[in-house]
Amino acid sequence: MRPIPWIFTVTVLFSVVWSVEQANRKEVFNIGTNVILMCSNKTWNEILYVIWNITIRNHSCMISFSNDGADSVNSCKDGKSLQNTSSAQPYLYIPNFSADDVGLYMCESPYNGGSENYNINVSFTVAPKISAWLEYNGSKRVAVCRADQGNPAAKISWSPAENTSVEIIHEADGFFTVESRLSEEEYPENLTCIIGHQLWSQNKTLVPDRNKTMAAAKAHLALTYAGVVGVVLVILAGFVYFVLKKSHLFALCQQTNTSTSKPPVTDDVEEVEPYASYVQRVNSIYN
Ligand SMILES: *[C@@H]1O[C@H](CO)[C@@H](O)[C@H](O)[C@H]1NC(C)=O
Ligand SMILES: *[C@@H]1O[C@H](CO)[C@@H](O)[C@H](O)[C@H]1NC(C)=O
Ligand SMILES: *[C@@H]1O[C@H](CO)[C@@H](O)[C@H](O)[C@H]1NC(C)=O
Ligand SMILES: *[C@@H]1O[C@H](CO)[C@@H](O)[C@H](O)[C@H]1NC(C)=O
Ligand SMILES: *[C@@H]1O[C@H](CO)[C@@H](O)[C@H](O)[C@H]1NC(C)=O
Ligand SMILES: *[C@@H]1O[C@H](CO)[C@@H](O)[C@H](O)[C@H]1NC(C)=O
Ligand SMILES: *[C@@H]1O[C@H](CO)[C@@H](O)[C@H](O)[C@H]1NC(C)=O
Ligand SMILES: *[C@@H]1O[C@H](CO)[C@@H](O)[C@H](O)[C@H]1NC(C)=O
Ligand SMILES: *[C@@H]1O[C@H](CO)[C@@H](O)[C@H](O)[C@H]1NC(C)=O
Ligand SMILES: *[C@@H]1O[C@H](CO)[C@@H](O)[C@H](O)[C@H]1NC(C)=O
Ligand SMILES: *[C@@H]1O[C@H](CO)[C@@H](O)[C@H](O)[C@H]1NC(C)=O
Repeated sequence: MRPIPWIFTVTVLFSVVWSVEQANRKEVFNIGTNVILMCSNKTWNEILYVIWNITIRNHSCMISFSNDGADSVNSCKDGKSLQNTSSAQPYLYIPNFSADDVGLYMCESPYNGGSENYNINVSFTVAPKISAWLEYNGSKRVAVCRADQGNPAAKISWSPAENTSVEIIHEADGFFTVESRLSEEEYPENLTCIIGHQLWSQNKTLVPDRNKTMAAAKAHLALTYAGVVGVVLVILAGFVYFVLKKSHLFALCQQTNTSTSKPPVTDDVEEVEPYASYVQRVNSIYN
């Protein structure tokens, strides 16, 4: 039997005594919840210290605590803190989890005999707000189904329609708004929208709201009506203005004809005043 090299022996001994566990993890939390993030599940009896290096959207910060309380740091000024469970295990506490807390959380927790180090990729999930309605595109009816501000993006399909396209219409800060539109020819009478999200154990269904459609149609009609009335008013106003201006010019002509002897300064004043009174008269017609 070959003698075991001493270096190998030392290495084996050392790794038995001091084991470094390094791993990547991924954790997903719901927006608005109070989050507990554990580095190790060892208790303060064994742990020497805990360091959290946190890189979130805007900045990096560090939270650390050592068993003797000497190296206590918290440069995250956003409510995150190190807490203990009832069985004296340390954990990182993130109150009211928000999209701003998404990022990479690196922790280091050495104990007598080793260290646990983790890179934890923290992200969030949030259920979308859903709605479905019928609307008009020109004179065509369109069924719309929408899932607002979800993460991950919701899945939309229609029953009984097939081959429908779903579009991500807005994406910001990790929130996705998705929408599917079906034009009138494509959908049957009892159209149902089916929306799925990983936070729901079951798909949700919506029937495009016909009352909403009525309201939309009424609004559409009212808008059209208002537009027509507006155009008529503008034409009318233009016409009245034109007529008044014409008679005003006529009056001015007469005035200049009859008052040639007057000095030009007073003439100027008189030229403004009748015009003002005309404007007022125009307004009073509409008031
Ligand atoms: C501590 O975590 C390890 C894995 O990380 C697990 O095997 C063990 O059961 C946990 N112990 C307790 C007390 O939760
Ligand atoms: C992050 O930065 C954006 C602008 O870059 C700012 O509007 C927002 O308030 C910041 N959020 C935090 C938590 O500092
Ligand atoms: C957690 O427990 C340790 C060790 O018992 C103690 O020093 C520390 O003050 C505790 N921290 C909190 C936030 O309670
Ligand atoms: C959690 O945060 C959101 C937005 O940042 C805020 O509207 C809400 O009031 C907060 N909830 C609690 C319990 O602090
Ligand atoms: C976290 O994981 C997501 C997807 O799994 C990836 O897109 C993202 O880049 C990761 N973030 C970090 C900080 O590693
Ligand atoms: C955390 O950051 C400090 C200082 O930047 C560094 O010394 C330490 O190794 C880092 N720890 C981890 C787990 O990334
Ligand atoms: C209306 O229909 C036309 C063609 O059919 C399409 O290009 C347009 O995007 C539609 N508009 C809306 C708001 O759906
Ligand atoms: C859906 O698309 C497939 C392939 O693109 C096609 O064979 C099928 O006929 C389409 N179904 C409908 C209802 O349009
Ligand atoms: C639509 O639904 C109504 C009531 O649920 C039902 O009576 C009718 O048969 C359905 N029509 C079709 C085409 O499925
Ligand atoms: C939800 O709907 C999708 C299609 O949109 C389907 O593949 C999936 O099986 C449905 N899930 C449940 C739980 O009904
Ligand atoms: C639609 O309106 C009618 C009466 O205006 C009401 O009874 C009905 O519940 C409404 N339906 C929906 C889906 O809101």
